[in-house]
Amino acid sequence: MNIIKEIPSKETYIVRQPVLRKGKPIESCIFEGDDLKDTYHFGLYNSGELIGIISLFTKINSIFAEKNQAQIRGMAVLESHQKKGFGEALVKHCENFCIEKDIKLIWFNARTAAVGFYKKLNYQTVGKPFDIKDVGEHYLMYKEI
Ligand SMILES: CC(C)(COP(=O)(O)OP(=O)(O)OC[C@H]1O[C@@H](n2cnc3c(N)ncnc32)[C@H](O)[C@@H]1OP(=O)(O)O)[C@@H](O)C(=O)NCCC(=O)NCCS
Repeated sequence: MNIIKEIPSKETYIVRQPVLRKGKPIESCIFEGDDLKDTYHFGLYNSGELIGIISLFTKINSIFAEKNQAQIRGMAVLESHQKKGFGEALVKHCENFCIEKDIKLIWFNARTAAVGFYKKLNYQTVGKPFDIKDVGEHYLMYKEI
């Protein structure tokens, strides 16, 4: 059985570390703003095991005119569980949460390897790729929801 529920930031480290910060210390899994009251973390449990995560930060990107925006960060599914629809379920959960909160635009910096995944979910890239130190090449992506 699959369940998606809100989780504390610290629980995301179980997935953030092996997927997003491979070989790096646990401290590298702490994101600035993780514990702000308007930051939300969701976990997908598959047969009781946390296998996927997504976080939503209330952060404005001035490139977009929309006032009600949120940023997705820390999107990850354990390697053993990828390509089974769990990532898509997490993004859709986040989108529904945003709709309830009257957030009109979701944006994020996507790793180049994940751009195809987000395009399938109707997100668009903006501009050229850029480098994020220690993580690699990214594209700014967004969707009006
Ligand atoms: C990117 C990621 C979150 C996708 O999660 P997932 O559970 O594997 O994806 P899903 O199974 O829900 O895929 C949904 C669709 O996107 C496709 N897809 C998945 N990953 C893809 C990729 N990297 N590139 C292109 N398409 C991809 C799937 O084939 C599927 O297509 P379909 O509906 O036609 O079958 C996951 O692979 C991951 O954690 N990757 C490593 C970390 C990462 O890059 N995170 C994103 C940081 S910005």
